[in-house]
Amino acid sequence: MIVLSGIRPTGNLHLGNYFGAVKNFVKMQETNKCFFFIADYHSLTTHPDPKILHHNVKNVLVDYLASGLDPEKSTIYIQSDLPEVAELALLLSMHAYLGELERTTSFKEKARQQPENVNAGLLTYPVLQAADILIHHANKVPVGKDQQQHLEMTRNFAARFNRIYNKEYFPIPEPFNFGEELLKIPGLDGSGKMGKSENNGIFLIDDPATIRKKVKRAVTDSGPTEPNSTVSEPVNNLFTLMAAVSKSDTLQFFKEQYANCTIKYGDLKKQLAEDIIAYTQPIREKILDLSQNNDYLKKVVENGKEKAKVSAAKTIKEVREIMGIKEF
Ligand code: TYM
Repeated sequence: MIVLSGIRPTGNLHLGNYFGAVKNFVKMQETNKCFFFIADYHSLTTHPDPKILHHNVKNVLVDYLASGLDPEKSTIYIQSDLPEVAELALLLSMHAYLGELERTTSFKEKARQQPENVNAGLLTYPVLQAADILIHHANKVPVGKDQQQHLEMTRNFAARFNRIYNKEYFPIPEPFNFGEELLKIPGLDGSGKMGKSENNGIFLIDDPATIRKKVKRAVTDSGPTEPNSTVSEPVNNLFTLMAAVSKSDTLQFFKEQYANCTIKYGDLKKQLAEDIIAYTQPIREKILDLSQNNDYLKKVVENGKEKAKVSAAKTIKEVREIMGIKEF
């Protein structure tokens, strides 16, 4: 089975990235041929400061390695080290239609968020993502729930290519999570998913004091007033986080307290903060250590590029031929 996934370098990884994606990467590398990359081309759609882009790429690389991705087992590379991906995106874009690209939820959201910068890269973002996946003929793509639509589009582009050229060339990839349902890890601000904003996210690099402070400030409600009442969204979010990092007995204990109206949110938050700290501290220590080791990081990236080139070059050669671009 060929497994592939990527993350945009926009800063350090948060618990959403970790539980939605990276934790699965680590498990999958044991029994599959895996490609994990850093999607720096994709991050250009929001025009990051050139001075910080490289720093962000390094952060994701370090977070990958600290979380347990093993360059001996997986191919770990930077997207822009494979210009073949850009060429495949160009070729696939010839069969991607304006209507379907405009209807993509992520495009509509970004167009709303940054009306001054609705660039062509944003519109063709799903095509580039399809190229990432199809360049290595991936079968399974571990991602969080927010990527489901992009995966559906990749499946469409792959099937369309096969149909047009009358050849079962690209496998049809599937989104994947060991826990079956794709995950959405909530943020601390009471609604929505965890993202990179400081008052919503907890990062793998956060120190214990920062984690305690953030969890303490997490939004809750005024408390249950009737036994067995429905749990409000902000409190349910804390339970979801607890389900990710705590023992099941702990979660059960607080859920029962909620149900019989004896819960104290202060206690719930204290326990949640300590469990997050216990979970992330070993990763954080490795992050601090690896960040100092530029020679090693350079070696990982060079080695990953070399390994990833093999299947990328093969795919591009074959796709060119299939589409009728032939050598003289
Ligand atoms: P990105 O960089 O926004 O997120 C990286 C991964 O983290 C997951 N994730 C979450 N999962 C659960 N709960 C959350 N709160 C949460 N926040 C983020 C995302 O689902 C994702 O798996 N377009 C992609 C990057 C990409 C890619 C690809 C992924 C580019 N090419 C090819 C897979 C295959 C993105 O922006 O993810």
